[in-house]
Amino acid sequence: MADLDSTISGKQFRADTPAATFAHAIKGASALDWGMQHRLARILDPGTGRTVMLAFDHGYFQGPTSGLERIDLGIAPLAEHADALMCTRGALRTSIPAATRAGLVLRASGGPSVLKELSDEHTAMSIEDAVRIGADAMAVQVFVGGEHESRSIQNLTTLVDRGYDAGIPVLGVTAVGKELVRDARYLGLATRIIAELGAQLVKTYYCEDGFEDVVAGCPVPVIMAGGKKLPELEALTMASNAVRRGAAGVDMGRNIFQSANPAAMLQAVRAVVHDDAEPGEAHARFVEGTA
Ligand code: R5P
Repeated sequence: MADLDSTISGKQFRADTPAATFAHAIKGASALDWGMQHRLARILDPGTGRTVMLAFDHGYFQGPTSGLERIDLGIAPLAEHADALMCTRGALRTSIPAATRAGLVLRASGGPSVLKELSDEHTAMSIEDAVRIGADAMAVQVFVGGEHESRSIQNLTTLVDRGYDAGIPVLGVTAVGKELVRDARYLGLATRIIAELGAQLVKTYYCEDGFEDVVAGCPVPVIMAGGKKLPELEALTMASNAVRRGAAGVDMGRNIFQSANPAAMLQAVRAVVHDDAEPGEAHARFVEGTA
């Protein structure tokens, strides 16, 4: 039977207390729909606005990369230590347990293999499948200055439009061709274009000179890309510098899964990103965990 008394005579309205407002630590996200903000908060820690994303999408253009020969054995056990996983839908469905609690950033562009012109990409996943799989974001390469620059921009804007329909954000990745210099001028150009064309997150490389300007000029969170394998202390120092200069965390692949101890390296990266640990201290913990 309906309980009319308690709806009419309740005294908990606290009419003298203004409605709560909720501060949002995620840059540029305050005007987004609730569902999109919710998905961003599954990738970026809502308290710090930072993320440690584990990238293992390399197979989409270069096949079985060293360290990724067996994703089920090498990567699946790391998932619990990452805030988010960046991978293809094929790797996710075949090799990652569906019970994972990590955020999901799914590769949504592709086409050419490493044997061809890499900028010749198309969109590679429908919005229906992104929804079906529970994606928290879709990732797309953007080749500013590349041979197929314009189409890669169209891939981005197509996914942004579809993403708005479903409440799924887009991570735009600055894909820097061999002929381009990874300096603040280029990275500032590429990140700004990607954000202005609608991506809610941008991934880009770290640069020593002017990285804070790249971040400041980008109105959405900038996530640092890892790049080729470095000695662990160098990789931790780069991650630490990036977050101290404004990055909203890191998306690292080879520097984690090609490490001598991927689990310990992932924990060390977490320490510099989420706890502002000194790189030397985080490295000492890595060495201890590896001994
Ligand atoms: C980068 O643009 C691609 O998404 C890569 O496949 C991957 O994310 C790179 O990761 P890392 O350079 O840290 O190995």
